[in-house]
Amino acid sequence: MSEKIGWRCPSNIALVKYWGKKEVQIPCNASLSMTLSNACTEVVLSLSDKKQEGLELEYYFEGAKNDSFGRRVGDYITAQQKHFPVIRDRALRIDSKNSFPHSTGIASSASAFGAIALALLSASGYAGDDFLNKASFLARLGSGSACRSMFGAYAMWGQLPHVAASSDEYATPVAQVHSNFADMRDAILIVDDTPKRVSSSAGHKLMDGHFYAESRFRQANLHCTDMLRVLQSGDYEEFVRIIEREALALHAMMMTSGNYYLLMKPGTVHALEEIMDFRRDTKIPVCFTLDAGPNVHVIYPAKDEEEVRSFLETRLNPIAKSILFDRIGIGPEKIMC
Ligand code: PMV
Repeated sequence: MSEKIGWRCPSNIALVKYWGKKEVQIPCNASLSMTLSNACTEVVLSLSDKKQEGLELEYYFEGAKNDSFGRRVGDYITAQQKHFPVIRDRALRIDSKNSFPHSTGIASSASAFGAIALALLSASGYAGDDFLNKASFLARLGSGSACRSMFGAYAMWGQLPHVAASSDEYATPVAQVHSNFADMRDAILIVDDTPKRVSSSAGHKLMDGHFYAESRFRQANLHCTDMLRVLQSGDYEEFVRIIEREALALHAMMMTSGNYYLLMKPGTVHALEEIMDFRRDTKIPVCFTLDAGPNVHVIYPAKDEEEVRSFLETRLNPIAKSILFDRIGIGPEKIMC
């Protein structure tokens, strides 16, 4: 007998960055992100009768069999089999699709592993009150930043001594958020859509023994503490300052690692300057952040949508190949299938 379970899981954009990890996907510092709405992965997990011993998995991405990502997912499921008892007597087929174009630098492994962990946990009959915590723990083991996608609005991941619920093993939602930050936008400027030259996992490794590692981890933990306070107080100026400092610190780490590298493109730098000038001239609290790539996330409050859109269209459109408009989201959803 065949049965299907579906989950949609959003991507997230880190405002305080996770960069550097220990075994097994334990972060070297705390991070904090905003959950997105439009950029998400949908996974349909089909269960059927098993024909042989061991894991039976077929993985399809956007309608086509994808053996290389399928192997990564298979290794993940095998490693976490005690959490996914469903694999003992059911064969799995995963059909995954993204709502955003391929290789745009949007963290697709975060939304993909988020949706996979949710679907496998549901299929394994897990329905405890801590379902999302457990899904966050399991998503983290697939892709670190995925653990933050389990919650709407803002989530933090990583243990901070004075934040009671914080953990290195899973993310937790940020409980107190000022109305200034309740409705935020993220316009993603695609400056370059060619595949990244250095993967995130290789980047994390370069933090081992990095000359600035300890200072960077301390800075990120401080930024996380500050950001929790700012999200509560509604201070736009400090919000902007932390986010931009974080983006530049992440890229500074790449540029100063033993095997240094550069992911920003001329268009990236141009966009950052335009955003800072626009903010200075208009006093609108718009800011940039970057992931491990050249594309620019432009973060701003929904109330400033009209002016920021017209700025994006006149001053940033010529630099970008395309702009994806996204917003703060509510977290994962089960889908009917
Ligand atoms: O989750 P990973 O291993 O793909 O690492 C993500 C790293 C950044 O996106 C650069 C930062 C973050 O906190 O999401």
